[in-house]
Amino acid sequence: MVSRTICNALLATTFVGIQAVTASPLSVEVDLDLGLLEIDVALNIATIGTPDVPGEYDYVVVGGGTAGLAIAARLSESFNVAVIEAGTYYETVNNQSTVPEYFEKFISMKLDNSTWAPTDWGFTTTNQTALGGQEYHYSRAKTLGGCSAYNAMLYQRGSAGSYDKWADILDDEDYKWDNFEPYFAKSVNFSIQARPDNSTIPAQEEGAFIESGGPLHVAYPEYATPFGSWTKLAMAEAGLEEQPGFSGGVLNGSQFCPQTANPYTGERDSSQTSFLNAAVEAGQTITVYNGTLAQKINFNSDKKATSVTVSTSGGCSYEISAKQEIIVSAGAFQSPQLLMVSGVGPAATLEEFDIDVVSDLAGVGQNMWDHIFYGMVWPVAMETRQRLLEPAYLEEAVESYHESPTNILSSNVFDYLAWEKLVNRTGLSAASEADLAYFPADWPELEFISGSLDNAALPSTYRDYTTMIPALAAPTSRGNITISSASMEDQPLINPNWFGTETDREMAVASLKRVREFMATQAVQGALLGPEIAPGVDVQSDEDILAFITGSFSTVFHAACTCAMGLSSDPMAVLDSKARVYGVSGLRVVDSSSFPILPPGHPMSTIYALAEKIADDIKNGN
Ligand SMILES: Cc1cc2nc3c(=O)[nH]c(=O)nc-3n(C[C@H](O)[C@H](O)[C@H](O)COP(=O)(O)OP(=O)(O)OC[C@H]3O[C@@H](n4cnc5c(N)ncnc54)[C@H](O)[C@@H]3O)c2cc1C
Ligand SMILES: *[C@@H]1O[C@H](CO)[C@@H](O)[C@H](O)[C@H]1NC(C)=O
Ligand SMILES: *[C@@H]1O[C@H](CO)[C@@H](O)[C@H](O)[C@H]1NC(C)=O
Ligand SMILES: *[C@@H]1O[C@H](CO)[C@@H](O)[C@H](O)[C@H]1NC(C)=O
Ligand SMILES: *[C@@H]1O[C@H](CO)[C@@H](O)[C@H](O)[C@H]1NC(C)=O
Ligand SMILES: *[C@@H]1O[C@H](CO)[C@@H](O)[C@H](O)[C@H]1NC(C)=O
Ligand SMILES: *[C@@H]1O[C@H](CO)[C@@H](O)[C@H](O)[C@H]1NC(C)=O
Ligand SMILES: *[C@@H]1O[C@H](CO)[C@@H](O)[C@H](O)[C@H]1NC(C)=O
Ligand SMILES: *[C@@H]1O[C@H](CO)[C@@H](O)[C@H](O)[C@H]1NC(C)=O
Ligand SMILES: *[C@@H]1O[C@H](CO)[C@@H](O)[C@H](O)[C@H]1NC(C)=O
Repeated sequence: MVSRTICNALLATTFVGIQAVTASPLSVEVDLDLGLLEIDVALNIATIGTPDVPGEYDYVVVGGGTAGLAIAARLSESFNVAVIEAGTYYETVNNQSTVPEYFEKFISMKLDNSTWAPTDWGFTTTNQTALGGQEYHYSRAKTLGGCSAYNAMLYQRGSAGSYDKWADILDDEDYKWDNFEPYFAKSVNFSIQARPDNSTIPAQEEGAFIESGGPLHVAYPEYATPFGSWTKLAMAEAGLEEQPGFSGGVLNGSQFCPQTANPYTGERDSSQTSFLNAAVEAGQTITVYNGTLAQKINFNSDKKATSVTVSTSGGCSYEISAKQEIIVSAGAFQSPQLLMVSGVGPAATLEEFDIDVVSDLAGVGQNMWDHIFYGMVWPVAMETRQRLLEPAYLEEAVESYHESPTNILSSNVFDYLAWEKLVNRTGLSAASEADLAYFPADWPELEFISGSLDNAALPSTYRDYTTMIPALAAPTSRGNITISSASMEDQPLINPNWFGTETDREMAVASLKRVREFMATQAVQGALLGPEIAPGVDVQSDEDILAFITGSFSTVFHAACTCAMGLSSDPMAVLDSKARVYGVSGLRVVDSSSFPILPPGHPMSTIYALAEKIADDIKNGN
């Protein structure tokens, strides 16, 4: 560690730097591919309060990501709060991710780092045993906003039964759907824009969204993928009916899905553009240490977490202290890593790296849940994102988005979703049925996404291709995270264990067959220009289907549950139901790693709701 005097000097510089930026919001030029677009992004960069002691706050939040900025913003309504974030403002380093359609540029699983986002942490998985020992890149965002700054923006909630199960596991009624649901609505500013006649949205479920709402825009944009309306017809003919929406606790049927983007500017909403900026605009005291890596949480002799040792770019270490609590929101990989390097985790692992054990918790880094998907492709006769590969088309799209942000660039182009329990179960073994019995009756096993993947490699035979994407919503494989050293500078060992169970492999094969049923319906034939391109009609046997899937799958990037909440009697529990770490005080973990189970679908809504709920618990003295 660098000496204290030098660190104090650098700390002062950091403060001044942030203050200077606060005084004059940046104006950022956004050059899309062709450099035609200029958008002014008024960055309301964090205010700086006047802490009694520099570097001391009531609450210190580690990780300015999805959960971190939401809980920091809520706590700053009542307290003096600091946020420690390793990244900085993505608008200045990855300006393309403000454009919804461009999110696909940031989801590569390739090891070639030229395919990664400029804001990526650069994690790779361990060799995956069920996948021939291959390693994969796993996208995680190193930026304010965290993964909300480059994810697919799909907004929906799990099924009521999934939260009821969460409540049962914790023996805590707060997580029952009826009690937890208001925390979802609290974050959201919801709207339905004028839509094409064949893609209108029915009235939403009662209570799902409220007028007063919160800072996060969730909207059905004006743009609807033309193929979405055909997916609806195909699924209805195959027995999967339209339902009003996916935020009322029911996931059984199909509908368009809203996205976390501002429909009036056409730009993504991250936890930074929503929660952080709203807190700053409201004049709340919130200090952001950007470009600053949390290295270790320090405990006093009573095992109370009192400070975080950090290093700001340039390498100088110093401490940021919390009078009340430290809240770790470093995501599913680095929250368990930070606990471990700080002495909270499996004792044997900590001892291996000469880390003093503060709390021996076997569950830290275990129980990782994730979702996987795989794309199937058909040629169609209507606009898909494939057209953006044509320079002239892209140029015009960029220009028109600039004038009025309502065209294809304003949409994630993954906008039609569906859910069900697998209908035809003849392909499932008795053992798989027994595995799947874990999931409540209303927890769908399969998700289907209609949209278009980045298909630069597809033949130029056709102009447009649509993608139908089955995904596992009730995965049974569990992975794990551990450390490779005692330093946060080294990446953790990430083992998602994808396809680790026979159940998941059987379900993957069955889900692909189900999509073929949708695409064989009478209703959809008028939209198709030819037969299935991928995997292709020759791929029929279960073995061939599975080989296609394992060779082309992607994670849905939903890593979760690696610092799981559980009862104190559960030896694998890391947190109690108020997200407090067992065996120490003054320390919580609030993010996707805190989940005891991963509800079906896309987790962002639940992450925001959890941040809202724990912020309320804290304000209420719990
Ligand atoms: C490509 C992609 C697409 C996705 N699509 C969707 C979707 O459409 N809908 C949906 O619901 N979900 C989606 N997800 C998942 C969702 O975005 C994530 O589950 C969620 O954002 C995770 O939130 P979090 O708060 O747990 O972690 P993050 O948002 O990752 O935040 C963690 C933060 O901690 C910071 N950090 C980590 N370690 C340190 C340290 N030591 N010191 C300082 N800072 C640190 C990181 O830089 C980061 O900002 C997607 C994810 C990805 C990657
Ligand atoms: C925006 O992105 C483009 C393309 O990547 C880049 O050339 C430009 O410098 C970026 N602008 C800023 C302000 O970061
Ligand atoms: C990408 O990998 C190359 C080769 O390993 C390395 O030199 C380069 O620094 C890496 N770039 C990034 C952005 O990590
Ligand atoms: C993991 O796979 C890589 C090749 O992808 C190989 O070089 C390496 O030895 C493997 N590591 C282990 C621990 O098996
Ligand atoms: C919702 O968002 C719109 C557009 O940004 C804004 O005009 C409106 O005031 C917001 N509503 C609430 C309740 O904050
Ligand atoms: C819905 O309308 C769009 C044009 O807005 C069209 O491309 C698409 O084919 C229509 N869908 C159906 C089912 O007719
Ligand atoms: C913090 O963010 C501001 C604004 O983007 C930037 O100018 C500054 O360099 C960042 N600091 C660090 C240490 O990354
Ligand atoms: C159910 O699936 C099996 C194989 O998985 C298939 O042979 C059978 O035809 C299907 N049944 C129906 C009614 O579709
Ligand atoms: C889902 O909906 C179908 C009708 O479309 C119904 O038969 C089935 O029972 C429903 N499943 C659940 C779990 O509600
Ligand atoms: C993680 O799981 C794998 C099996 O998928 C196992 O071999 C390994 O020992 C586990 N690692 C830890 C740290 O638990």
